[in-house]
Amino acid sequence: MGSRPFPHSSTSSSPGRGGSVSLLGAVLLAELLVSLLLSSAHAATAAAEKSKPGDYAAAANYSTLGCEAFDPTYPQIDSDLEIHRQLGTHLNSTKYIAGYLGSVQMRGLTVGFFSGRAYLLTPTDFPGLSHHAKLHAMYIRMLLHVEDTFGPHVPDVAFVLTTSDTPRYCSPRLLNVSSPQPFNFSAVDCHHSRGFVPGPYPVMGIGKSDWWPDLLLVPNFHFHMKLYDNTSLALVEQFGEVPWAQRKPILFGRFSKYRMNRSPDDASTAKLGVGGKKICYNGGKTCPSREYFIRKMPEKDPARIDVSFRAKVPMLRHTEYKYLINLEGQGISSRLEQLLPMSSAVFKEASGYYAYYYRTLLKHRVNIIEFWRKVPEEVLEELDWAAAHDREVQRIAAAGVSLARTYLVGPGRTCYWYRLLHGLAGALAYEPDLSQWPEAVPLRQVLEEQMPASSKGREAYEQPWAP
Ligand SMILES: *[C@@H]1O[C@H](CO)[C@@H](O)[C@H](O)[C@H]1NC(C)=O
Ligand SMILES: *[C@@H]1O[C@H](CO)[C@@H](O)[C@H](O)[C@H]1NC(C)=O
Ligand SMILES: *[C@@H]1O[C@H](CO)[C@@H](O)[C@H](O)[C@H]1NC(C)=O
Ligand SMILES: *[C@@H]1O[C@H](CO)[C@@H](O)[C@H](O)[C@H]1NC(C)=O
Ligand SMILES: *[C@@H]1O[C@H](CO)[C@@H](O)[C@H](O)[C@H]1NC(C)=O
Repeated sequence: MGSRPFPHSSTSSSPGRGGSVSLLGAVLLAELLVSLLLSSAHAATAAAEKSKPGDYAAAANYSTLGCEAFDPTYPQIDSDLEIHRQLGTHLNSTKYIAGYLGSVQMRGLTVGFFSGRAYLLTPTDFPGLSHHAKLHAMYIRMLLHVEDTFGPHVPDVAFVLTTSDTPRYCSPRLLNVSSPQPFNFSAVDCHHSRGFVPGPYPVMGIGKSDWWPDLLLVPNFHFHMKLYDNTSLALVEQFGEVPWAQRKPILFGRFSKYRMNRSPDDASTAKLGVGGKKICYNGGKTCPSREYFIRKMPEKDPARIDVSFRAKVPMLRHTEYKYLINLEGQGISSRLEQLLPMSSAVFKEASGYYAYYYRTLLKHRVNIIEFWRKVPEEVLEELDWAAAHDREVQRIAAAGVSLARTYLVGPGRTCYWYRLLHGLAGALAYEPDLSQWPEAVPLRQVLEEQMPASSKGREAYEQPWAP
């Protein structure tokens, strides 16, 4: 890990050494020293009131919420911040990405914390966001929840929060602050026009691949929207009522039609069909893996694979099956969180896309069963393995439930956000200040006044929410 190019530094200059001074000079000097001492004491108090990166444990709610219990999830934060720590998160990159992703078409929200308060830093437009207005409402409430919970212990930071399924900006693997900008450069989402500033960018989102090392993963808005703890987690006992032996050894799933979006340059999200057949199109930007699986795979083993786009089935009825399938959507599928508590083994499509807890918590044949690392027919091998290891698969199902109950809980999400904000604050290559954002409005005012002012905004405002 390299050192930051522009570390926070106190710019206090050491007092110069005077030679011989007159009495009057000495008096003046003494007065000057007193006033300097007073003002620096004042500055020190002000600095102590501001939370510093790394001070996260100082907040009383850090232990009240049991934030230490979620330690196994935080390494993802360090991983996402690695490029920020190497190259620095600059104010000009932050402003550039705020202008680019912060527009309603790009589903971004430019927000930040200053002196423990959450702010909307550039104006947004709830009617223009259409169905994403509801998703933004989920995150606005979450940021205010972080404010309520940790207040003055939240460090000063500015970032762009996105609700798109996959990242949509120029990867700092192609252009970053340490590489000179090639003239006439043009690649996917690198709009190298006048005013372009390379990353890393402080962008937060629900899913990413290694192609966007700088994207900071945050828990999915669906946790809030679906009142996850009150619905999925609260029903764990009920889901567990169907005994394992009574569950059918069939791989089951019902789906909506979504196709995966990707960057053609991103080898980590490339997908192949049966026998290594090419299935992506649109210049490699679309891979219909979900559709492909549903069209091709049931016919290969109709007795064991029951997947389709047909009528949805209530979650409780999923407990009739031993094996539940998770297929990726446009990017990661938040269905996974709903399947883990069902006491059935979750078969997960391997994917280059991941959410905030995948890399730290999900383990093949420990709490999930992964397939389609290369080709979809791997699912048949995994089904054979499952049939031959029924006891082990039952344990995998139980481990999935335990993962969800232990880590995918409200306090875990609140703590994760808080640790991420502290991590990001430590990677900033500039001194954040509210004056850098002249259009800033307290987020509470946005929620309570701006949002209900339009009908689209009011609809979003009225959505149920839980932490
Ligand atoms: C702890 O969090 C709760 C709920 O978010 C909040 O009401 C309370 O004021 C917080 N306590 C402190 C000491 O900040
Ligand atoms: C920065 O960009 C250059 C090429 O443009 C690339 O080789 C390098 O790996 C990038 N740095 C990081 C940390 O991604
Ligand atoms: C940049 O592109 C323009 C038009 O496509 C071309 O005329 C010019 O020679 C290019 N410049 C360089 C340095 O490649
Ligand atoms: C952005 O700021 C950094 C220093 O903070 C500077 O090195 C870089 O040249 C700036 N980039 C642009 C495009 O202004
Ligand atoms: C969720 O459940 C808790 C405790 O059972 C309850 O206090 C809370 O009001 C519920 N939240 C919602 C949004 O239903």
